[in-house]
Amino acid sequence: MTALEDRPEISPFLLGEFAPVTDELDVADLRVTGQIPAALNGVYMRNGANPQFAPLGRYHWFDGDGMVHAVYLDGGRARYRNRWVTTPGLAHERAVGHSLFGGILNFTFPPEELMAECGIFKNAANTNIVAHAGRYLALWEGGFPTEITRDLDTRGLSDFGGKLAGAMTAHPKWCPETGELIFFGYDPVAGPPFLRHHVADRSGVLTHSTEIELPRGVMMHDFLTTRNYSIFFDLPAVVAATMEGESMWQPKFGARIGVLPRHGTNADVRWFEIDPCFVFHFLNAWEQGDQIVAYGCRMPSIDLDFEAGEDGIAGMAAMDGVGLTRWTIDLAAGTVREELVHDLRSDFPRLHDGLLGLPHRYGYASATLDGPMTIGFNGIVRYDLQTGSDLTYAFGDGTSIGEAVFAADPDGSAENDGWLMVYATDKATLETDFCILDARDMAAGPVARVHLPRRVPAGFHGNWMPAT
Ligand SMILES: [Fe+2]
Repeated sequence: MTALEDRPEISPFLLGEFAPVTDELDVADLRVTGQIPAALNGVYMRNGANPQFAPLGRYHWFDGDGMVHAVYLDGGRARYRNRWVTTPGLAHERAVGHSLFGGILNFTFPPEELMAECGIFKNAANTNIVAHAGRYLALWEGGFPTEITRDLDTRGLSDFGGKLAGAMTAHPKWCPETGELIFFGYDPVAGPPFLRHHVADRSGVLTHSTEIELPRGVMMHDFLTTRNYSIFFDLPAVVAATMEGESMWQPKFGARIGVLPRHGTNADVRWFEIDPCFVFHFLNAWEQGDQIVAYGCRMPSIDLDFEAGEDGIAGMAAMDGVGLTRWTIDLAAGTVREELVHDLRSDFPRLHDGLLGLPHRYGYASATLDGPMTIGFNGIVRYDLQTGSDLTYAFGDGTSIGEAVFAADPDGSAENDGWLMVYATDKATLETDFCILDARDMAAGPVARVHLPRRVPAGFHGNWMPAT
């Protein structure tokens, strides 16, 4: 086996709080500072990149094998468990003891037979982990979802019983009113259709799929839903350009927002021109009379080469100018208005999932509260969309946090009745705490710090999944 530690120069994303871990643990009765709210009964799962083998060339954070880190809460006690998502590609690599696939920054063709089975890129199943209709799906936007169990064992790829054509986004949306799972898939290089839209009913059956015409294949990481619509941002992040050695950012192609009735087809899409920008993550959208109001973390441009800057991990220099932005789409007038509502540098926006697609007041995001924007946030911000104000909690410069997920209080009724859950890693000691903050008193800091048996690497997305 080629040890990653032998080649630490490969990428800053293999070092410090980002470095992969090599073991799979299951540890119960974790030490807690403070008190875990008794109402929290369920599991918080978070996915992220954790390469098992040294990369074949320059490593990108998005390349690594998916690993799910879970904290199970029950009666005020906590258990931690982590497992790799054993994708078909990773299984082949384990069989030979080394990497077989290239990545975003080191494109290589895998061996022919492997490519026939798995495709050009390894489906890393590393970006998000969601629960729907009793299934747990580890998601990667370039391929099928990978189903795992609540205990994190891998079941295998899922194509919704043969009904799913193409990839599935890592950012599906739930409809709190119908229980539907609404998602899209994009394929930027194989040719049209570049985009498909799907709806699965509350029992997990894929009931609706439609192809959406785009002029070219663009990277589309996230989207928005409302009670009646799905909303796509067709932004000039042109994947094919990178394969010709050009920048992905091609603003000459312009940008637009597409509004599709949830069960409509390509002919029903209405497109609205906007200024070029890029958005990794949206907060939420809802309908308001003839208007749709949408919020997202807007960036002026996109560059996936996060290490290209002079000061190491400086890709987030591209996030200078990032800010929570509101787009007001007027379906009657055929216009869209764009406004920067907060200039704090933040991303990974979340809300009370029971209000997805519906009007709401509070949005939560991870933020860089001082210093330059780097990958790795150090605070949480609560945006008040009603008053325009914000409230922050700073973990401090020495701490790196990930996405903060809102977990509703089952005994609560107000929008902010609940808790925020986040992994926080001390960058000096490289120890990770699972932190729980009361959303009603966020500025007070964690009400419980669950001390994990070892570091959880900085990662991507996760969700709180209450016991049923
Ligand atoms: Fe994401």
